[in-house]
Amino acid sequence: MPGIIKRIAGPVVFVYGLKKPKKNYIVEVGEEKLLGEIIQIRGDVSIIQVYEETSGLGIKEPVYAIDKPLTVRLGPGVMSTVYDGIQRPLDLLEGSFIGKGEKTSPLDLKKKWFFIPESNMTLGTKLQGGEILGRIQETETVENRILVPPNVHGELKELASEGKYVVSDNLARITNPSQDLELPFYHDWPVREPRPFKSRILSNKPFLTGQRILDFLYPLVEGGSAMIPGGFGTGKTVLNRTLAKFASTQIMQMTLCGERGNEAADALHSFLKLTDPTTGRLMIDRTSIIANTSNMPVAAREASIYMGVSIAEYYRDMGYTVSVMADSTSRWAEALREISGRLGEIPGEEGFPSYLPKLIGQFYERSGRCITLSGLEGSITIIGAVSPQGGDFSEPVTQYTMRFTTTLWALDTDLARSRHFPAISWRISYSQNVREIAEYLKKEVAPDWHEYRTRISTILQEEEELERIVRLIGKDTLSETQKGLLLTAELIREGFLQQNAFSDEDAFSSAQKSYRMAKAILLAHELIEERVQKEGLLVDPLYEEQLIEDIKRLKELNIDGIKEFTDQLPSRVKELKF
Ligand SMILES: Nc1ncnc2c1ncn2[C@@H]1O[C@H](COP(=O)(O)OP(=O)(O)OP(=O)(O)O)[C@@H](O)[C@H]1O
Ligand SMILES: [Mg+2]
Repeated sequence: MPGIIKRIAGPVVFVYGLKKPKKNYIVEVGEEKLLGEIIQIRGDVSIIQVYEETSGLGIKEPVYAIDKPLTVRLGPGVMSTVYDGIQRPLDLLEGSFIGKGEKTSPLDLKKKWFFIPESNMTLGTKLQGGEILGRIQETETVENRILVPPNVHGELKELASEGKYVVSDNLARITNPSQDLELPFYHDWPVREPRPFKSRILSNKPFLTGQRILDFLYPLVEGGSAMIPGGFGTGKTVLNRTLAKFASTQIMQMTLCGERGNEAADALHSFLKLTDPTTGRLMIDRTSIIANTSNMPVAAREASIYMGVSIAEYYRDMGYTVSVMADSTSRWAEALREISGRLGEIPGEEGFPSYLPKLIGQFYERSGRCITLSGLEGSITIIGAVSPQGGDFSEPVTQYTMRFTTTLWALDTDLARSRHFPAISWRISYSQNVREIAEYLKKEVAPDWHEYRTRISTILQEEEELERIVRLIGKDTLSETQKGLLLTAELIREGFLQQNAFSDEDAFSSAQKSYRMAKAILLAHELIEERVQKEGLLVDPLYEEQLIEDIKRLKELNIDGIKEFTDQLPSRVKELKF
């Protein structure tokens, strides 16, 4: 006997008489069998959030319980596919839309994959969840390591031999005293549950982004979590895309949450054509995308973030380094607020449900570096964009997210307005990972990496102080040394921190290049300061010098060019005239 719809409130449906309802289990709603999930049970009434458009749904229509939680289907074919918030493939190039209640398979059921079993997988092997049974080349760049589902264990009775298979073919038979399981090449995983791993491990490896201000001043550790708060149009999406393109992890998961439909489609079209700077192949080959735009149902937006991170965990479990970019988590929080409102819950701050901080915490806790169940090392780095209204960082989503992320990359409206990009503020951004990463970069880049970092940030702080003085009593009161510092700060801002995401020479800056640039700028600073102090060189006329212009354009050079420039600096500074 199905349940019966009693009341419909937007994406939320109140249902009578559902037999043995279980929280977080899915249902099919109405004649059209829309996908829904039980989110609350109040006595006789099950409250359901519906992942598809509910317009047209009527009172008294039936609701059928399906005996499983909301899951994501994980298998070969996930990589390089664009899904909506409930894992229906979106063919954005065709511009097709998915009909209501339409059941599309998340994985291509006809595609044949070439499977190579692991040589140590002999029949009779005692298997634990998460072990690797074999491999499939999923895309040109990604090898899918076919895993025993995390919650399965037993003795291997049969294993597919080398050859071509579709995902629903028999991969293996595994038995234990209570079960005899035939496994296909995929498995389903409940999205709200973090996938298990053996142990967490500490990380001191940086998550390099190729963005100077991030890698040099506010570095993030691989397996860490960062937030990008920024008001309207400050560059969150551009930064997200830049990170997706250049970040040092092997696999990317992008969750587009509540962006405007046409903008998301445009962005995706260009993303699908992007080539991977490291392999020269298509970026999408190692990217999986969940797109839930603002015109799609709000409940699916709520789910999309969990779909995304579950997919990331699946690849982590194969021993990959993975990053998750969620844009924007504020739209996800707004979806929660809307649903909570429909449920008539007592609202917390700004109408958000009181459990919002807990959910934000649980999401970011799914980041980390770990030993997987199969003994490999894998990691998930999570980066979430936050869109505070009016750029006001005191609002709840920004504040709660700050509690659970270690790194803050704050976008500043004034910087964006003056076209200083990336508009990352050096006044409020921070990283709690600098110490661990410094050890690594001292070895990999240069022993004095950390000293240069400190000097750059000190000069930026001193500039702020001096500017306060200038605002109060004017520039004339500054000493020439102080004016020299303002000049260097300008060189740092324009020549080092500014980085054009759309320029071929400058979009990516390696850690080595960033270090070399910092070194050159600081050497110029020292040399100029020396002449100012010893010979009385005046600073104001220097702004017109070609040397200053050349330093601002150092970023267009490669490492050798920067080294050569640095070698010539002493003589060029000596040539500066009074
Ligand atoms: N790193 C960058 N280099 C050059 N231009 C940039 C950069 N970042 C942002 N911009 C400019 O700023 C514009 C707005 O950026 P973006 O769409 O990323 O903002 P947003 O914060 O995602 O906005 P919204 O609040 O609407 O989501 C871009 O179209 C681009 O012109
Ligand atoms: Mg955006």
